[in-house]
Amino acid sequence: MSLILGLESSCDETAAALVTSDGAILAHRLAGQEAAHRPYGGVVPEIAARAHVEALGPLIEAALADAGKTLADVDAIAATAGPGLIGGVMVGLVTGKALALGAGKPLVAVNHLEGHALSPRLADPTLRFPYLLLLVSGGHCQLLLVKGVGDYARLATTIDDAAGEAFDKTAKMLGLGFPGGPAVERAAALGDPRAVPLPRPLVGSAEPHFSFAGLKAAVLRARDSGQYSVEDIAASFSQAVVDCLIDRTRRALKKVDGATALVVAGGVAANNNVRETLQALAAQHDLPFVAPPLWLCTDNAAMIAWAGAERFAAGLTDPLDVAARPRWPL
Ligand code: KG4
Ligand code: ZN
Repeated sequence: MSLILGLESSCDETAAALVTSDGAILAHRLAGQEAAHRPYGGVVPEIAARAHVEALGPLIEAALADAGKTLADVDAIAATAGPGLIGGVMVGLVTGKALALGAGKPLVAVNHLEGHALSPRLADPTLRFPYLLLLVSGGHCQLLLVKGVGDYARLATTIDDAAGEAFDKTAKMLGLGFPGGPAVERAAALGDPRAVPLPRPLVGSAEPHFSFAGLKAAVLRARDSGQYSVEDIAASFSQAVVDCLIDRTRRALKKVDGATALVVAGGVAANNNVRETLQALAAQHDLPFVAPPLWLCTDNAAMIAWAGAERFAAGLTDPLDVAARPRWPL
């Protein structure tokens, strides 16, 4: 059994965690930056990078203390090396390199998306490859067949915005604040999902791709018409996103052979309507449905430590001059 220290700093969450190769989460610490970004209605890269610099060291110390461990007990250090906001990615990766060099431990450079993609196996040790993964976050909206560690077939992606981005922009348009997803979900609970006629871009098309730009424009028109309440727009928007996600996932299920489960990960998986509808879709296909707990769906370091553990077990470590990558498709 090995012990992995994971570091995450690719967006607006600074995090450190200690996870074992058999899936025990010994510690996970996280510092959000919502208050710092709220006045701007979105993540400001420079502010994010500075906040990571301040937060990361103390979080690592706290995680080690929580687990009753020191760096000497750690077998490898895993840090997010991209994709993400480059300033933040560099903070975490350089910190990981320094710790690896100082403590004489191997470094594992983790793709943040691989962290999300493998996190369901941390949540459910019985989950076997291959599984169909809907990865829905603020920066990504993809359907992947996860065939093994480092072995991913991308079946679909968004041709414009990510689903989480659509939630965030809708929240901004409706004056619901930041971060957008949870705010839209709360408002949607008070509205009528059938009140506003909104488009379902690409629904029914042959390839399982996503598109949310047209939906966003329609939300703006609905708001400016003055005909609808914020709650009704939020509810109708959420329903439209769910309808798109489900139709596209159903299409992908038709295209893949031998998937053992339907899995959802990424921040939008925190949305109850999304989870419940996907669960029903999995049941229709006689597939188990796996969704990590909410805290493991949004950005965190346990998923990075776990992806690091899976890579380390496969002998995949990285040299200390490995580059930070703002763009890095899986
Ligand atoms: O995975 P994540 O924490 O960060 C990225 O890697 O992007 O995902 C954050 C995204 C944001 O766009 C946020 O609005 C969305 O996930 N999100 C939600 C909910 N909670 C977070 N979207 C819809 N409903 C939610 N409850
Ligand atoms: Zn993420």
